[in-house]
Amino acid sequence: MTDPQQLTDQAQTAIAACGDEVTLEQLRVRFLGQKGAVAELLRSLPELPASQRRDFGKAVNDAKSAIDKALTERRELLHQAALTARLQAERVDVTLPGRGEEPGGLHPISRTLMRIEALFRGIGFDVEEGPEIEDDFHNFGALNIPADHPARAMHDTFYLPSGLLLRTHTSPVQIRALQRQAPPVQLIAPGRVYRRDSDLTHTPMFHQVEGLMVDEGVSFAHLKGVLVDFLRRFFDRDDLPIRFRPSFFPFTEPSAEADIGCVICQGEGCRVCKHTGWLEVLGCGMVHPNVLRNVGVDAERYTGFAFGMGVERLAMLQYRIGDLRLFFDNDLRFLRQFR
Ligand code: PHE
Repeated sequence: MTDPQQLTDQAQTAIAACGDEVTLEQLRVRFLGQKGAVAELLRSLPELPASQRRDFGKAVNDAKSAIDKALTERRELLHQAALTARLQAERVDVTLPGRGEEPGGLHPISRTLMRIEALFRGIGFDVEEGPEIEDDFHNFGALNIPADHPARAMHDTFYLPSGLLLRTHTSPVQIRALQRQAPPVQLIAPGRVYRRDSDLTHTPMFHQVEGLMVDEGVSFAHLKGVLVDFLRRFFDRDDLPIRFRPSFFPFTEPSAEADIGCVICQGEGCRVCKHTGWLEVLGCGMVHPNVLRNVGVDAERYTGFAFGMGVERLAMLQYRIGDLRLFFDNDLRFLRQFR
């Protein structure tokens, strides 16, 4: 028969050597469990002569409490050690400088858009947006471009399987605005437009800013006043030469294109202006009465003007950027210059 004191020594040695809580639990079962060593000693009690039972029983009980105490202390110790190890491993040095702290900057297109918006807001224009996925009616039909109109060929349209399309210009926002609100209307609509076109000077996606003003008595003089003022302020030159050339758009009549004196060569003639001294910067005109009628505006009472400009083109001239593709490469060496 095992001696309780010997069992205690054996247990304490094993517990002291134990390095993790799982093994410790196994030790507890081995010594103190229902079928463990202590229980076994107690079961042997009746086999002893009656005179020895009391002392033996007490010795077993002492062994039990000693082992229990050793287990508890060890468990606490292991728990503390595990906690300390975890705290060490997961330590975060909050005094270290952060990583990737380089300040970002606005893309030049965003900057140009913000500048255009600020200038038009300053003269009372609202800024509106419309969907980039459009239907035929808003992108073409309502703008006086019927299904068989040759002008559709100019718009190399991306069609979706559903029959919807990616808007080829921001002009559909004119339609949506006039459908929603009665004149007077005075807004610009910046946004992305899409055409199946990709070469040195064209990208499948680019940005336009549409402008629309409809009210009683709006004339071509208003159009010229607003656009001349805008262009001179945009390029920050009071004497910037500007001319309006007759042009054609199905949704405006009369229509014009506006040129500015070349900001690169000041009209001397260079590669950028193709030696003409002029740069085309936007299309414009008086809103065609058919367009007004298509959205239920009384074309006898109201007139309006509209314009559309290419944002990449304006940004290239503003920042003297020679290659359209730079806007889309997202090369940090290029973008950093605009921080
Ligand atoms: N929507 C025309 C284009 O994309 C530009 C334009 C807008 C012309 C409004 C006249 C009036 O080329």
